[in-house]
Amino acid sequence: MNFELTEEQMAVQQAARDFANSELLPGVIERDSQGKFPHRQVKNMAELGFMGMMVDPKYLGGGMDTISYALALEEISKIDASAAVIMSVNNSLVCWGLEKYGSIEQKEKYLKGLASGKKLGAFCLSEPEAGSDATSQKTTAVKQGDHYLINGTKNWITNGGSADIYLVMAQTDPQKGYKGISTFILEKGMKGFTVGKKEEKLGIRSSDTHSLMFTDVKVPLANRISEEGFGFTFAMETLDGGRIGIAAQALGIASGAYELALSYAKERKTFGKAISQHQAIQFKLADMATEIEAARLLVMKASRLKDQGKPFSQESAMAKLYASQVAMDVTIEAVQVHGGYGYVKEYHVERLLRDAKITQIYEGTSEIQKIVISRNLLR
Ligand code: CAA
Ligand code: FAD
Repeated sequence: MNFELTEEQMAVQQAARDFANSELLPGVIERDSQGKFPHRQVKNMAELGFMGMMVDPKYLGGGMDTISYALALEEISKIDASAAVIMSVNNSLVCWGLEKYGSIEQKEKYLKGLASGKKLGAFCLSEPEAGSDATSQKTTAVKQGDHYLINGTKNWITNGGSADIYLVMAQTDPQKGYKGISTFILEKGMKGFTVGKKEEKLGIRSSDTHSLMFTDVKVPLANRISEEGFGFTFAMETLDGGRIGIAAQALGIASGAYELALSYAKERKTFGKAISQHQAIQFKLADMATEIEAARLLVMKASRLKDQGKPFSQESAMAKLYASQVAMDVTIEAVQVHGGYGYVKEYHVERLLRDAKITQIYEGTSEIQKIVISRNLLR
């Protein structure tokens, strides 16, 4: 498989790198400390075309490939993993499924706004008692004439407070188990739709995570995506692509921490020489760089397979499983290389360490990725 980047892909990578350094780096520590959503920065990302990167230009997207998307996410995650998850959810969990399975009317009405970044999206699968065990959805959608009435609670929804448009999985026929799950497009402000409290988190603190409550929310039939009963397959297919985004986020967190550790190691002196001249530090850097390279190849492979229209479920799970572990390993070592300075906010690596952990949890925990991988191996 050829992983050489095209000129276009390199241009996207450079644009994301420049944007991250000029627009995301200033204030990143304060936004993290205060849990402040990066509204202005997300608007700027939209202007650069980063909120609907893979969507067809006819729906106001960037028409780019998955590799370009992963490269951009990596660069943004190096500096601000919160901005990265906001971008990742809008691109791969919301725009992707709407473009692939939405009706022409739904695309006109919702996708254009989302892909251009004028609107922000959220993906609502998890519930208080249905996280990993995603088939045990309790939210219901009952058909009544020309609409459905939706009742239930969703948990942990990224962009939950800031989004305009929400893709919500709900049971239209609970007797059928996961074959009775369907997907609906909800808009903020619909009667009976309440945004719950914002979670106080360990990391990705400037992204907003909320529970959502639905009480008799009246949703037109026209807002159901595809057929009744297609919702679980819809969610699983969406997550296959989403996991590439989170793998790229994890890769970015790791490479951001590594770059900081490398440059610090060359500057900091102990016992009369730069710490980069102590073999213990050199070996840490060697391990970090090797793991990052391996993670990058897995992310590239899953992206390339997706771009080629080949199966990539197993590869995206492998990329996420591995890259998220690398993010943990590398950020811990990056703090170590910084010594005491690594433990305080000013040097950024403590934030990257806190941000790394979520990549092993959301869009399927590491244990769930192993289930996906082993089922593919044993099939
Ligand atoms: N593509 C298409 N269909 C798929 C699929 C895929 N990748 N994976 C499973 N399915 C289908 C199966 O084929 C099966 O259908 P059939 O019976 O018709 O063949 C159906 O879905 C049920 O599959 P399983 O029997 O495998 O279901 P399961 O209960 O054993 O669960 C699971 C499978 C992989 C563990 C799944 O529940 C899962 O992925 N759980 C994790 C949920 C998750 O990732 N949530 C993320 C929420 S979003 C988020 O987190 C965003 C964020 O933070 C930013
Ligand atoms: P559980 O499923 O209860 O798992 C608890 C532990 O048991 C985990 O270690 C898990 O790996 C393990 N476990 C469970 N089942 C098995 C098994 N069969 N074999 C082995 N081990 C198992 N969800 C959305 O729908 N949309 C979002 O936008 C979104 N954003 C999120 C943002 C944040 C910050 C967080 C924390 C979560 C977000 N989630 C979102 C939810 C996330 O996807 C779930 O938290 C995740 O899937 C795990 O579910 P759970 O929390 O219920 O843990």
